[in-house]
Amino acid sequence: MKFIKILFYLVIVLIAGYFAAIFYFHSRDPLVKWDWKKINTDKVCYPKDFLWGTATAAYQVEGGFHNNNWTWWEKQTRADGRPAILNHDTCGRADDDWNLYPLDIKLMKKLGVNSYRFSVAWSKIMPTPDSINIMALKHYQELCDTLLANGIEPIITLFHFTYPFWFQQIGGFEKTENIKYFVQFSRIVYKALGGRVKYWVTINEPVVLVYSAYFIGEYPPGKQDPKLTAVVLANLLKAHQAVYNAIKQMPGGQEAKIGIVKNIMQMDPYRRYNLLDNLIAYFADLNFNQSLLSAFSTGKFHFYMPGMVNKKMLLPDLPQTLDFIGLNYYSHNAFRFVGDLDKSLTALPYPGEPLTDMGYTVYPEGLYRAIKRIAKLHKPIIITENGIADSLDTQRYDFIKRSLYALSKAISEGYDVRGYFYWSLLDNFEWNLGYSQRFGLYKVNFKTEKRTLRKGAKAFVETIDKWQRECFR
Ligand code: GAL
Repeated sequence: MKFIKILFYLVIVLIAGYFAAIFYFHSRDPLVKWDWKKINTDKVCYPKDFLWGTATAAYQVEGGFHNNNWTWWEKQTRADGRPAILNHDTCGRADDDWNLYPLDIKLMKKLGVNSYRFSVAWSKIMPTPDSINIMALKHYQELCDTLLANGIEPIITLFHFTYPFWFQQIGGFEKTENIKYFVQFSRIVYKALGGRVKYWVTINEPVVLVYSAYFIGEYPPGKQDPKLTAVVLANLLKAHQAVYNAIKQMPGGQEAKIGIVKNIMQMDPYRRYNLLDNLIAYFADLNFNQSLLSAFSTGKFHFYMPGMVNKKMLLPDLPQTLDFIGLNYYSHNAFRFVGDLDKSLTALPYPGEPLTDMGYTVYPEGLYRAIKRIAKLHKPIIITENGIADSLDTQRYDFIKRSLYALSKAISEGYDVRGYFYWSLLDNFEWNLGYSQRFGLYKVNFKTEKRTLRKGAKAFVETIDKWQRECFR
């Protein structure tokens, strides 16, 4: 009898513990699902001085690269014989935006945007560690001047996944002592463009970069080393802090608004009430999202994957090095425990949602979730990227409408979002996936460089137009 009683209480405790754990995991970043049929996505409003723009990155649109870590990567073959870039694609002249930027600014004007986020090419500006290509700097000065003359505010990213090949050869961000080269480059760019540009992004998506370049080996230098992943991430945080301080000390630097860009991809359990799925999703989130968010809110960096890596670092001044936070949002991932840890850590598309061409799902509600989460840093937020790869252009219109509804809802609830940048203005070179993805508001024919506005882009144009007419408050 006594044994049965003990067993009974044990079962109760186990069940309660199970659900308490599930409750804990679910409440960290609760899943949000809306019934879009019941929502009027036209009911939106945004602040008067809102920044509307599109985003690009130098390597993906400019063309004309050489001596760069990605031009090197394009020539590599993996151990299993696959080319480093899908279909052996090489960036080549890309959108030829280096030469066609006046046309691209006209295309921006047609959209009605008032801002443009782009990155500057370190390998073009500093072809060797001790030389500066004045013509490259002049190019960016002219780009900024043309943007400003057209009422479009430039926002610059200093490091968007690519750097000179010489920097990779000396170990890139694997070595703390190399951070000085990034600081030197940033100073040069700020000196040339500081008078024209208010918003500066130091680094685009540090976690995506280290995950892709050092954990799964899909980006250069193509390594698979969890410990090095953590080292490079820690160095990128130090690099951000160093560049922030360096620019602030330059003439006019106090006026610069400097931030970093974090990609938030929610890591959800595949089966809501499976404890092991929840656990895997928790660890994926801990490293992909929370490691960086905690570093910027507490000054304590911790990157931990059981059995693989456990790196801690104190950067007490890091929380003071953000004037704004950039948020990139695309989708969420699902995790399913399948017995083997490695396989269980493979991100799956969330069940029951339509797929984008990238293989992850269409989940606009996630933008609202991501804003709520990043708002915990208590900094002004700019949505520095949000977009969809949709070559058939059948999903883009609704995706934009719904994402902009999610954005408006967050703003109406008091979240301090200052701008929204659609990824991307043009179809472009999608890193290891080459030219296989179509993110552009403008479709690009890469043989003729002809740009054509996609139907789905209308959702963006209409919303900006409505904001100009109705929204000012
Ligand atoms: C982001 C990245 C962009 C672009 C985009 C679309 O992670 O910052 O450069 O590639 O994804 O996948």
